[in-house]
Amino acid sequence: MATPTTLAKAEDRVPATGHAARLAHVSKSFGGPAGGQLVLDDISLDVAPGEFVTLLGASGCGKSTLLNLVAGLDRPSAGSIETPGGRPALMFQEHALFPWLTAGKNVELALKLRGLPKAERRPEAERLLELVRLGGSYGKRVHELSGGMRQRVALARALAQASDLLLMDEPFAALDAITRDVLHDELTRIWRETNLSVLFVTHNVREAVRLAQRVVLLSSRPGRIAREWTIDIPQPRRIEDAAVAELSVEITEELRGEIRRHGQH
Ligand SMILES: Nc1ncnc2c1ncn2[C@@H]1O[C@H](COP(=O)(O)OP(=O)(O)OP(=O)(O)O)[C@@H](O)[C@H]1O
Ligand SMILES: [Mg+2]
Repeated sequence: MATPTTLAKAEDRVPATGHAARLAHVSKSFGGPAGGQLVLDDISLDVAPGEFVTLLGASGCGKSTLLNLVAGLDRPSAGSIETPGGRPALMFQEHALFPWLTAGKNVELALKLRGLPKAERRPEAERLLELVRLGGSYGKRVHELSGGMRQRVALARALAQASDLLLMDEPFAALDAITRDVLHDELTRIWRETNLSVLFVTHNVREAVRLAQRVVLLSSRPGRIAREWTIDIPQPRRIEDAAVAELSVEITEELRGEIRRHGQH
């Protein structure tokens, strides 16, 4: 499949640009050309290589829409999106694993799609399950796994894509607080051990502050970047750290202001 054209394109993709994702003046409307609903308005945002950014906003403000655009699942109505490292990996709130496959085979499927030779798939799937602390669960079926374990498999599968940008859409929202807390630790560890850039969507302020180097707050109707914060609280953080709590209070105030301005939540 490697044609001279793809080689030339590969050269273009060398990340000399210094960003894992670049959104420039991105807008998105749904519906008819005239009476459409403007969901995202003039979003410009860079994610640096290795950076962890959380996008925070009220329900319905367009977070998933934005993530889908970055994932290439939909196209912006205006503006441009670059992901110089190629197609990003994507992880959703629901694990979206294939229930008829084992944990290991779910991961292997992503490795197959990536083009990894057959003989290398099983050891690599086992390594990735080890990385998310599910060593020994290779042969387990999805229904035998807890919600937290399923999200671990989903994370291993996302990592199997070997993309340098991981997009996460409220991946831990359905989990209980303790399981979520453990997975925050795991995600932070994996992020620090790899060179992954992460764009993580949530409406949970504490989670945003717990995880990110930068929190970007979206306004609602339409979604615009309202404010952003650089978080320099040292990692590993705990969700109950005083510094995390303090900044969360400040950000929650801003978020409340956004919701008041736009109502209906
Ligand atoms: N394919 C679509 N067609 C029409 N409208 C859509 C489509 N996708 C999203 N919308 C609308 O865009 C707006 C933003 O939706 P989106 O799912 O991006 O919000 P969100 O911030 O992810 O919300 P939540 O926190 O509840 O997940 C909503 O008003 C939604 O109805
Ligand atoms: Mg959403």
